[in-house]
Amino acid sequence: MLEDTFGRRFHYLRLSITEWCNFRCNYCLPEGNACDTPKDNLSLREVETLVAAFARLGTSKIRITGGEPTLRKDLSDIIAICKGTPGIQTVAMTTNGFNLKDHIGEFRRAGLDAVNVSADSLDPRMFSAITGQDKLQTILEGVELALRSGVSSVKLNTVLLRQYNHRELASFFDFLRDRRVSWRFIELMQTGDNQTFFEQNHVAGEPIKQHLLESGWEQVIRDKRAGPAQEFRHNDYAGTVGLIMPYSKDFCKTCNRLRVSSRGKLHLCLFAEEGLDIRASLTAGDVDATCQVVERLVAGKIAGHGLAQGFTGATRQLAMLGG
Ligand code: GTP
Ligand code: 5AD
Ligand code: SF4
Repeated sequence: MLEDTFGRRFHYLRLSITEWCNFRCNYCLPEGNACDTPKDNLSLREVETLVAAFARLGTSKIRITGGEPTLRKDLSDIIAICKGTPGIQTVAMTTNGFNLKDHIGEFRRAGLDAVNVSADSLDPRMFSAITGQDKLQTILEGVELALRSGVSSVKLNTVLLRQYNHRELASFFDFLRDRRVSWRFIELMQTGDNQTFFEQNHVAGEPIKQHLLESGWEQVIRDKRAGPAQEFRHNDYAGTVGLIMPYSKDFCKTCNRLRVSSRGKLHLCLFAEEGLDIRASLTAGDVDATCQVVERLVAGKIAGHGLAQGFTGATRQLAMLGG
């Protein structure tokens, strides 16, 4: 099992398969980014080598991200490669939801187990103002189909924004009354070039936690393998609420994930580094060499992300690594 010098174990790989995205979320890619060419992206063979190596090192869960992963035409092949690799138990994806409505059946048949969808507002006009796309209805239909598709979990992600969606909490909670989804509220993270936007829009998650606890929501005891969200449940609701607070104390102590970019760079943290190139061994199809280089690099992972100390990440990384 991959382990760093602080005793954190990494069983979870977030794999970005394209930098391209068709949305223009104001907190992420307000200017958009150019469409990458197929040769920039890891090929199916490179993905196969990567996943085989990580599985050998103890990875059991892969989350496919982007950019927007569904923009890759061979996404179902990628899902099938991940699912078919011995040792990989869970194949998940984080998406803007745009293509779910038309393709969830195909993704499911390829082996997709779980899906997380960005849903920053339930008001169509607010949704367009945040994402640059007038597609709320399409996304919600995709979410309903995902719920009926047989995947084991559907989660929704909202980045909390003071000037936009932060007064909508009541309608988000209503949505959970009869739907088995986990709705996660994410504190806006500061990146290399969003300082003004960050200062105007950052909303702390802690007061929301207090509000939940005062309204009958109970905090769920954290599973050892759980992700970054603090989860809450309520007897009157089918769904659960999650809070992702990257600025909270000890957030990085439970880090269990590594990231690989669509260009074959290993990122030991979402923030604070450029990424370490491991592509040569992937292109060579060399699983042994990939294992060796990854093990060596993981030993250098630092304790925290440095965000609380004012370190800013690079916007490209946050957007291109799919968070
Ligand atoms: P699961 O627990 O597997 O469902 O995944 P997740 O919640 O980590 O995945 P998702 O892609 O839905 O991410 C939700 C939000 O959490 C995104 O905004 C991510 O940027 C953020 N996030 C996920 N992992 C980390 C992390 O290691 N560090 C930080 N700072 N943020 C993270
Ligand atoms: N702060 C917090 N989350 C962000 N995401 C993108 N940019 C930011 C940011 N600045 C998240 C999206 C989505 C994932 C792809 O990354 O909400 O869940
Ligand atoms: Fe695209 Fe996701 Fe970034 Fe929005 S948050 S621009 S959907 S990558």
